[in-house]
Amino acid sequence: MRRTVLVLLALALPVAGVVAALFLPGIAPPRGVSDSGRTINEIYWVAFGLSALVFILIEATLLAFILRFRHRRDTPEGFEGPQIHGNTRIEIIWTLIPAALLLGLTIYTFMRVPDVEATPPASGETLEIEVTARQFYWQYEYPNGAISYDVLYVPVDQHVTLLLRSTDVAHSWWVSEITGKRDAIPGRTNRINFRATETGRFEHGVCGEFCGTQHTRMTTEAHVLGAEEFEQWLADNEPPLADDATVALGETQWAAACAKCHGLAGEGGYGPPLAGNTTLVNADALRQLLNEGQDLEGNPGYMPPVGRGWTDEQIQALIAFVESSADLAPEGSR
Ligand code: CUA
Repeated sequence: MRRTVLVLLALALPVAGVVAALFLPGIAPPRGVSDSGRTINEIYWVAFGLSALVFILIEATLLAFILRFRHRRDTPEGFEGPQIHGNTRIEIIWTLIPAALLLGLTIYTFMRVPDVEATPPASGETLEIEVTARQFYWQYEYPNGAISYDVLYVPVDQHVTLLLRSTDVAHSWWVSEITGKRDAIPGRTNRINFRATETGRFEHGVCGEFCGTQHTRMTTEAHVLGAEEFEQWLADNEPPLADDATVALGETQWAAACAKCHGLAGEGGYGPPLAGNTTLVNADALRQLLNEGQDLEGNPGYMPPVGRGWTDEQIQALIAFVESSADLAPEGSR
């Protein structure tokens, strides 16, 4: 009876492990929706499967030995087992097998790297998108000058290259369904390539590098659109923008660059309340503040230069949104 329970337990553990691996978040990686995303998942499962196999074999052997050589009722008191010193053949075997497994895994991984890199073919069109990371949001700029914040728009089935830059500290771009992560580092441009093969909104994007107090809010998502839908989006957002599109852009700017610290309605929170602050509608003062941030002596508050390098159009978009907002606009500015 006790033996049956033990055997059942020993069988149930690996089964539970496999079920957990397949269905629980945190063990299984998110589904890949690009060539590189799927390849990363494939490498993950091969490495996981191999490790699981080794784990089960070793634990099963350990259990078998514990049971086989346990203390029995008829074992004499003070009994000593045979004292064995070395066994060259077994030692060679248990060195060679792991070495061969690791070498195989290494070769397999290196062979899959080109698919993860997804280098676009020399011929054919590649869409290049300029990505600027700032504390604490992502700015995407498209070839026709269109801009989006925290939401990346890309067409399906097309090679895309992101040119990653940072104007302050190190960040890391990462939308796990799309592909792996890549750092955005001040002073250099990093590239990451992918080709999404499914339309949809992929919302698991995060900043993968600790970059300051609001690092956890530096999220991003990728919207993969059909080719025509994407062209339409580009056309709708091509500057110069119409008035309502300018306000809409300013609103996404506010949500990305300001609201994470100052609140959506400027009510404050991490940063001081901003509702009604006249700097919000004074282009020169606003430009200086966004470019330089604020680090006053004797004042514990620090504001990063959230709009370093913003164009006049970007500053005007923010002002247009503030002026349109009943919550934020200073008195008399609407
Ligand atoms: Cu940007 Cu963490």
